[in-house]
Amino acid sequence: MRLSNPGVRLVWPGRSTLNRAPLGELRQRRGSDGRVRLIHGDNAGALRVLAQSGVKVALAYLDPPFFTGREHTLVERREGRTDPRTRAHAFDDRWESLEAYLESLVERLALTRDLLLPEGCLVLHVDPRTSHYLKVLCDEVFGGASFASEIVWRYRRWPAKTRNFQRVHDVLLRYVRDPGAVPRFRQLYEPLAASTLATWGDRKQRAVVDASGRRLRSSSTAEATPGTPLGDVWDIGIVAPVAKERTGYPTQKPEALLERLITSCTDPGDLVLDPYHGSGTTSAVCARLGRRVIGVDANRRAITIARRRLAALDVDPLEERLIEPDEAAPSATTHDEIGLSEAG
Ligand SMILES: C[S@@+](CC[C@H](N)C(=O)[O-])C[C@H]1O[C@@H](n2cnc3c(N)ncnc32)[C@H](O)[C@@H]1O
Repeated sequence: MRLSNPGVRLVWPGRSTLNRAPLGELRQRRGSDGRVRLIHGDNAGALRVLAQSGVKVALAYLDPPFFTGREHTLVERREGRTDPRTRAHAFDDRWESLEAYLESLVERLALTRDLLLPEGCLVLHVDPRTSHYLKVLCDEVFGGASFASEIVWRYRRWPAKTRNFQRVHDVLLRYVRDPGAVPRFRQLYEPLAASTLATWGDRKQRAVVDASGRRLRSSSTAEATPGTPLGDVWDIGIVAPVAKERTGYPTQKPEALLERLITSCTDPGDLVLDPYHGSGTTSAVCARLGRRVIGVDANRRAITIARRRLAALDVDPLEERLIEPDEAAPSATTHDEIGLSEAG
């Protein structure tokens, strides 16, 4: 049975309705390669401006703060070494309440939904402490029929001292914009299990069915199998402290994870959006895979780290700053812009 528009809705006291804030504007700061746009500013304002300019994306990947109740700091890592002198504020994940957190996300989910192509999709990356609330909110924003997958990203990490099972997974909720459209989707494969290989070998199997379509048995073909279609539980390592891709930005996600999403949900040349861009994992992967990308982050240092990461791939991203409508002196340097070396 398919869910369409559920009558179930998550409510909380004081839940606000749509925010019709006035529009800001984007001001170009530096860079020349329009295939990679980095926007410094609050993503809600940036998403509104992008919608106004008619931007449409094939994939939006959202990796917001996880409601950890902590302030996250960064220590930059360059040429394989961390430099403790660069320790700085990265982003604040302290919220007045769970309701305030959900309120912030649901607004941004709706703004992002409106930027998707009909065949496009949104992937929201959260953790199991909030994913159940967010799935209900996504059903509300998209309609239940748009739910496509709940991907479990399973990783290994240093065990925590806890009288509980170790928490070793994140949740990625994927929703398509228009469930009636043929979705962008490229089938990826994973290796066959050892037991399957032992029984069936590495040739493609063809199902033999009877007149009513009932499967009777399988027969081997001469063709080599590409593996088994990729499932929704992904075993991918976290970014190790010594990994080459590590930037020192907190909560940095592995390129291998983004590579899977981008390869399966977009075609070369497509536009990808990451409104919680951080160290620029999405942009780095898009640049390598020939996708265009827009990354937004409220933290000036995140933008600088992403730009350096892209420079290592010979990309000079087009950098813009969101000027909010109530900003008095648009060209003034903010406090956030001070304190991180722009060199390199
Ligand atoms: C979990 S991190 C993203 C990490 C990223 N995926 C990576 O691999 O580096 C979340 C990012 O969202 C940014 N952020 C949080 N709230 C924001 C907002 N309202 N507008 C723009 N950026 C925001 C933070 O500054 C932070 O860099």
